[in-house]
Amino acid sequence: MRLGIFGTGYAGLVTSVCLAQLGHSVTAIDKDPEIVAALSQGTPTIREPGLAELLAATLDAGRLHFTTRPEEAIAASDIIFVCVGTPPRNDGRADLGQVEEVARTIAPLLDGYKLIVEKSTVPARTARWIDWTIRRLVRSEREFDVASNPEFLREGSAVRDFLQPDRIVIGADTDRARSLLLDLYKPCFDCPIVLTSVTTAEFIKQTANAFLAAKISFVNVVSDLCEALGVDVTTVARGIGLDHRIGGHFVNAGLGFGGSCLPKDLSALITVAEDNGVDVDLLKEVERINKARVERLLAKIERALWVLRHKTIAVLGATFKPNTDDVRGAPSLTVIPWLHAAGANLRVYDPAAVSKLKKLFPPDDRLTYATTALEAARDANALVILTDWDEFRLLDLEHLRSLMRTPIIVDGRNMFAPSEMQAAGFEYYSLGRGDVTLSADPHRAPP
Ligand code: UDX
Repeated sequence: MRLGIFGTGYAGLVTSVCLAQLGHSVTAIDKDPEIVAALSQGTPTIREPGLAELLAATLDAGRLHFTTRPEEAIAASDIIFVCVGTPPRNDGRADLGQVEEVARTIAPLLDGYKLIVEKSTVPARTARWIDWTIRRLVRSEREFDVASNPEFLREGSAVRDFLQPDRIVIGADTDRARSLLLDLYKPCFDCPIVLTSVTTAEFIKQTANAFLAAKISFVNVVSDLCEALGVDVTTVARGIGLDHRIGGHFVNAGLGFGGSCLPKDLSALITVAEDNGVDVDLLKEVERINKARVERLLAKIERALWVLRHKTIAVLGATFKPNTDDVRGAPSLTVIPWLHAAGANLRVYDPAAVSKLKKLFPPDDRLTYATTALEAARDANALVILTDWDEFRLLDLEHLRSLMRTPIIVDGRNMFAPSEMQAAGFEYYSLGRGDVTLSADPHRAPP
């Protein structure tokens, strides 16, 4: 099939490359000529495992093209996907400016039937606005439909998620739109396909992310309770997660959810509920609990180190999750400036995000960037883990301890077993498990 894709961000680029890989002819549009030039030469503009290889292969095969000219893409397409950004506004609502711009761009260029498909996460009923906007602008009666086919891609595994989805959701209100999308997906995927209305499909996406957020906040409340009761939240999470009704995913306690999707979609859903007079206290609590996670970690750091001024702290991990270079909504964006303002000397290491961080927090006499975790840890009074990158799990603990001035680890992602850290000679503070201090005697432990 001939496909046009507006937007080459996470959703747009992964969708373009994967659909081209499945044999379709794809033209992807971005306004930025530098992005178009880089992608046309096979240089990915986002970091995503497996993407560079597929980008090169599909460009070579001539099935993928990038352009700044929408008219070129629309003329060459039967289906047009809308994958532009929907960033949060200050009031928590999604900013739909880019979606509207795409609708306004498409309207005068329609030449025969086109199916316009939302892939960006949008509030329910956005498709109606796209439809309405185009109808307002086209002079004569043109044939088109607007459908919804939300993506459920996770950063760090987006290519795999696209090619091996749990399900495909197709929201279409006409037979023509429905059968076009079925023709696109059915031959390539054997996962369940949820066929529904456009508004329902939009709502499924928003609700999925809000539910994942709720699951994480739930386990984080349980985690605080575990600390009070002296039990280990990882064992509790495993114990409940083995029940298929609960499931073992998204029950990892720690610093909570960040990124560009879960926080944004949750707050957008809250505003939708408020607009419709529906009680949203549950969702607001999910948000509040999540925001409090970083404060809890900062309190742990203070408990571990007492005075922060002039202490050297190694910060390991800055991205909102591993296997991405994305720092949007990441705890590091709060933790780094807070520790810096408290007078600590910071040595920050992240496997992928240092260049982004340097722009946000330029190095100074109390903030430097290391090229390895061990380099960051040298002579440190404490090491703080903010992202669960696999390479931190593989650290040689004995070597790490020998490098540090005081072997103290504050782990925001519960990466290690407390017993393992105790055996390795560390003071170890994590979330929802007993802290490992130097002394079991409460009179000799930190206050
Ligand atoms: C999310 C959805 O998972 C995906 O379906 C949607 O298309 C886009 O939004 P993503 O933002 O890439 O994907 O991240 P995700 O893997 O969902 O993790 C979000 C955050 O939750 C991360 O900060 C992660 O560290 C945190 N998290 C995840 C936890 O704190 N505990 C967990 O158990 C799982």
